[in-house]
Amino acid sequence: MMEEKDVNIKQKIQQNLLEWFAKNKRDLPWRKTKDGYKIWVSEIMLQQTRVDTVIEYYNRFIDRFPTVKELAQAEEQEVLKYWQGLGYYSRARNLYKGAKMVWEKYGGILPDNMEQIKKIPGIGPYTAGAILSIAYNLPYPAVDGNVLRVFSRILDIKEDIAQPGTVRYIQDKVKEYIPSGYASEFTESLMELGALICTPISPLCLVCPLYHQCAARQKGIQEKLPIKSKKVKPKRMHMVFCVIRSEEKILLIKNASNGLVGGMWGFMGKEGHPSQDDQTLKLMLDDLNIPVQHVQKLGTVRHIFTHMDWDMHLYMCEALYQGHIGQEHEWVGKEEIENYPLPKVYQKIWEKIEW
Ligand code: ADE
Repeated sequence: MMEEKDVNIKQKIQQNLLEWFAKNKRDLPWRKTKDGYKIWVSEIMLQQTRVDTVIEYYNRFIDRFPTVKELAQAEEQEVLKYWQGLGYYSRARNLYKGAKMVWEKYGGILPDNMEQIKKIPGIGPYTAGAILSIAYNLPYPAVDGNVLRVFSRILDIKEDIAQPGTVRYIQDKVKEYIPSGYASEFTESLMELGALICTPISPLCLVCPLYHQCAARQKGIQEKLPIKSKKVKPKRMHMVFCVIRSEEKILLIKNASNGLVGGMWGFMGKEGHPSQDDQTLKLMLDDLNIPVQHVQKLGTVRHIFTHMDWDMHLYMCEALYQGHIGQEHEWVGKEEIENYPLPKVYQKIWEKIEW
């Protein structure tokens, strides 16, 4: 049983948050709609990407794919092109797969219940909660890193938020706190508080609407929360890439459709060992089946993914002719690259090419 004091604090938290949000919310394009599809697109883009970056991508994407129908009927390549630069391309591929499913199974209307929505590709517990609450005003929690931080502080939760059990506990707490009939505003107000006030370092407690209710602030430990055990550092890897050129055209290879940069175009590369690039190059060139007459070092670039840190050693290999290989590929000129979705890691290689 909750004590009367706790009920009062809970009501205060709800009321102060909603009032603060109504006055202080940012004017963001996805806040002008309750269309489940648009909220879906925005939430997928906002995973791992800053709001400032997402705004332009969201507007362009919605202009081109205004409803599930346009997205479901597009080519995957075009969808990836609209995603180019946002990274984490599996998000785009899943969104596209999801749109096809919603188009075929539900006539283009995104379901408004947990049972069906959680079966759509790319929609996990967070995204499901975000869409159901923000678009459909249903009382489901949407707990991302911001909300974990805000709730750890308000309720002085000292458990490790890297543990699934802690996340479940906080999800249950957030659900308890959703004010009846105001799920949409409540979800967004928590995200907004996390973004604008309850920031990871130097939170702006003096202007926080929950100044009096926040348990961590009362104890002066707000900057010590949340507790999060360290992630493993991305693995440092020595990578060797060959850029194959023939008569001012470069060989682009399409990656297999799963994996890190699946479905995107790129270059031939392989993990190697420092000071053994010749052997690694030879292995790749032997597999290639196109004779190469000259090899020259282009330079090095670094690219950090979530789990890998690539130290990339680039070589320009002059081929005798524009041959064919046993994998989807194209010979592409300097100006034609615009037509190919190239992930950031390969854009960095493209930029190193001296024409
Ligand atoms: N981050 C995740 N979802 C968001 C939203 N709807 N508004 C602002 N920031 C967000």
